[in-house]
Amino acid sequence: MSDTDSGTVSKGLEGIVAAVTRLSSVRGQVGQLIYAGYDINELAGNATYEEVVHLLHKGHLPTRSELDEMKSQLAGYRELPDEVINLILSFPKDTPPMHVLRTGVSAMGCFDPDRDNIEPEPARQKALKLIAQVPVIIAYFHRHRSGKDLVHPDPKLSEAANFLYMIDGEVPGDEKTRTMDMCYVLHADHGMNASTFSARVTIATLTDMYSAVTSAIGTLKGPLHGGANEGVIRMLQEIGSPDRVDDYIADALAQKKKIMGIGHRVYRTLDPRAPHLKKMAQILSSKLGESKWIEMSERIAEIMLREKNLHANVDFYSATVYYSLGIPIDLFTPIFAIARTSGWTAHILEQLANNRLIRPMSDYDGVDDLKFVPISER
Ligand SMILES: CC(C)(COP(=O)(O)OP(=O)(O)OC[C@H]1O[C@@H](n2cnc3c(N)ncnc32)[C@H](O)[C@@H]1OP(=O)(O)O)[C@@H](O)C(=O)NCCC(=O)NCCS
Repeated sequence: MSDTDSGTVSKGLEGIVAAVTRLSSVRGQVGQLIYAGYDINELAGNATYEEVVHLLHKGHLPTRSELDEMKSQLAGYRELPDEVINLILSFPKDTPPMHVLRTGVSAMGCFDPDRDNIEPEPARQKALKLIAQVPVIIAYFHRHRSGKDLVHPDPKLSEAANFLYMIDGEVPGDEKTRTMDMCYVLHADHGMNASTFSARVTIATLTDMYSAVTSAIGTLKGPLHGGANEGVIRMLQEIGSPDRVDDYIADALAQKKKIMGIGHRVYRTLDPRAPHLKKMAQILSSKLGESKWIEMSERIAEIMLREKNLHANVDFYSATVYYSLGIPIDLFTPIFAIARTSGWTAHILEQLANNRLIRPMSDYDGVDDLKFVPISER
C-alpha cells in the first residue's frame, strides 16, 4: 500500500475487498476455502460437480429431485447452434484452445436473440447454458484439430463424463470420471480471483452474460492465473528427471523466474485444494508406473517451501492429474475454465442482484502543464 494525493494505492489491489459475496470465502491465513458454508474438505470426494453448481447457484445443496432437474437442464442445454459449430471448425487447427473458447462463448451471444436480457430468470438460464456449452466448444474444437469426427453430447452422462467422452470418443470408466468430477469441484469457485473479478466488473456495467464470461475466459488464460497449470507440466517436461530438479530450480530462482504452480496472493499457508490434487496425482502416477512426475513435483514443492516459504497452489498438482489422465496439455486451462464457469456465472448473477458500477480510481503520476504544439513544429 502507498499513500498518494488521491488516496491509498494497493498495487494489484492486494488486500482490497471489492465485493460482498455469499458464494465462497478464501481464508488465506488458515488455508481454508468455503463454498456457501461448506469447507472444501467436506465437499471434495463427497459432492458431485452438479451438486456444487446447485450450491453456488441456489445457495443450498440440492435434494434428489432438485439435482435431477438441474442435471437434465444442463444435459438439455449442451448442443451448440450449427453456426457456432461451423465457426469453431473454421479456426486454424493450431489455435490454442483458450482462444477458441473465448471466441466461441462470444459467438454464442450472436446466436441468442435474447442475448441482452439480464433479468434474473433469463440470466440464470443463460448461465446454465454456458456451464453446459463451454465444455462442448472445447471438445468439438479438439476433435476437429485432431482430424477426428465430432462426438455429440450424451445426455445420460454427467458433466465430467460427457466432456471426457466428447474428447476421447469413448465413455470413461468410473475412476476417471470421479477424478475429473473432483477436479471440477475443486476449481468451481475461489473468491475474488482475477477472472471472477473481470466477470463482475464487466456485468456491473449491465452488459450481457456472454460478454462477462468472455472477459473472464480472457483473464483466466494468463500464466499468472489459470494458465499456470500448463506451465507446470511444461516445466516438468523441461526438467526431465528427478535428479535434475535441484539444479533447475536453483537456476530459475537465481534468474528471478517464477516457478509455475507455486505461490498465491491470498494463501499464506497451504492451498487447501492442493492436498486433494496431490493425492489424486500420487494414485494416478503409481497406477501408470510413471512416478517421476509426482517425484519431481514433490521435490520442487519442498525446495520452494524451504527457500522462499511459498506453497504449491491448485495448479501445481492438477497438472500431473490431467497429464496422467492422458489429457493434452493445452486442454488443462480450458478444463479450469469449464469448472470455473459455474463460479463466474454465480458471481455474475449475484452482482446483478445487487448491482453497482465497479469503478475504482487511479493515481496520476504523469507530467502536468504541457502546452499544445502543432504537428508541424514537433
Ligand atoms: C500467484 C502469484 C501471481 C501471486 O503473485 P503476487 O501476490 O503478486 O506475489 P508476487 O509476485 O509479488 O510475489 C511475492 C514474492 O514471492 C516471489 N514469488 C511468488 N511466486 C513465486 C513463484 N511462483 N516462483 C518464484 N518466486 C515467487 C516473488 O518473486 C516475490 O519475491 P520478492 O519479494 O523477493 O520479489 C505468484 O505467486 C505467481 O506468479 N505464481 C506462479 C504462477 C501461478 O502458479 N499462478 C496460479 C495461481 S493460483
